[in-house]
Amino acid sequence: MHNGKARAFTNIALIKYWGKKDQQLILPMNNSLSLTLDAFYTETSVSFSKDYTKDTFYLDGQLQDEKATQKVRHFLDLARNQAGIFKYATVCSQNFVPTAAGLASSASGLAALAGACNNALKLDLSPKELSRLARKGSGSACRSIYGGFVEWEKGNSDQTSFAVPIASNHWEDELAMIFILINDKTKEVPSRNGMQRTVDTSSYYDSWVKSADLDIKKAKDAITKNDFHALGKVTESNCLKMHATTLAASPPFTYWSPGSLKAMNKVQAMRQAGQNCYFTMDAGPNVKVLCRKKEVEDIYHELQKDFPAEQLVIAYAGKGIESLEMEV
Ligand code: PMV
Repeated sequence: MHNGKARAFTNIALIKYWGKKDQQLILPMNNSLSLTLDAFYTETSVSFSKDYTKDTFYLDGQLQDEKATQKVRHFLDLARNQAGIFKYATVCSQNFVPTAAGLASSASGLAALAGACNNALKLDLSPKELSRLARKGSGSACRSIYGGFVEWEKGNSDQTSFAVPIASNHWEDELAMIFILINDKTKEVPSRNGMQRTVDTSSYYDSWVKSADLDIKKAKDAITKNDFHALGKVTESNCLKMHATTLAASPPFTYWSPGSLKAMNKVQAMRQAGQNCYFTMDAGPNVKVLCRKKEVEDIYHELQKDFPAEQLVIAYAGKGIESLEMEV
């Protein structure tokens, strides 16, 4: 029996990963930059045993169906190949999410699974190697190996595509992100399909890749100078550019719902009224508001005028991946 357990926090990209140049290895078209957060995380344990006759996956105590298990199995195969150990596994994952608002995160989930496999199979991977392994589970997971600000260097091969922490003098500890949970029940295009359709068909895609490089520079410069407004501006404009590519895809699609628009308008109106906040959105309708920790209460209070407390979650900068002891 080989056992291992790990905890990984989710991350939100300020400069987005949107599009792959290699589907199998998950090599992205552009670098991305994220902030790891404390509010959402996944704890995963894995046991490999010769006594098991198949791979089994439990999420929040529930046995998962074939479709959910398949993604996990694909990742287990990568880890088994890397270790040269070919035993079936039982995976138990627990998502820690403040509300049941569909915020399951592939970033924390696949990073925690990578960490658990590393421990169970005694792969003894360095953070860089662990980031590479997590990347092959889900692109954004490679950034959850580290806390604070993180850049995923796109690279051009399995060896050269991994995340690295960004030196910031702990500036991230002065920041906060408020999640506005939008539950409009719109049918989502999974990020994997959405980004591929965009790469294949969007007439805006080339401009996206070009401008993402410049946005990375702007964001890193803002982090070096601890310049909140510069970071906020590039975060919001990069998000809008990513979402514009989906509108120019064929067939066109959007992750925005009426509730998302209401939240984005609110943030912009708050800014016009002098509050310091900027938004970002990923492959779903939720809106995330970047602000300073010292102003988070005022901003939360203002948001509460339009969104009930159940829809609002405050997060702060989170840590990198952690190994945990298996309970016996
Ligand atoms: O790692 P995936 O396949 O869940 O893709 C994540 C894509 C975005 O969340 C939209 C952007 C990002 O960089 O996290």
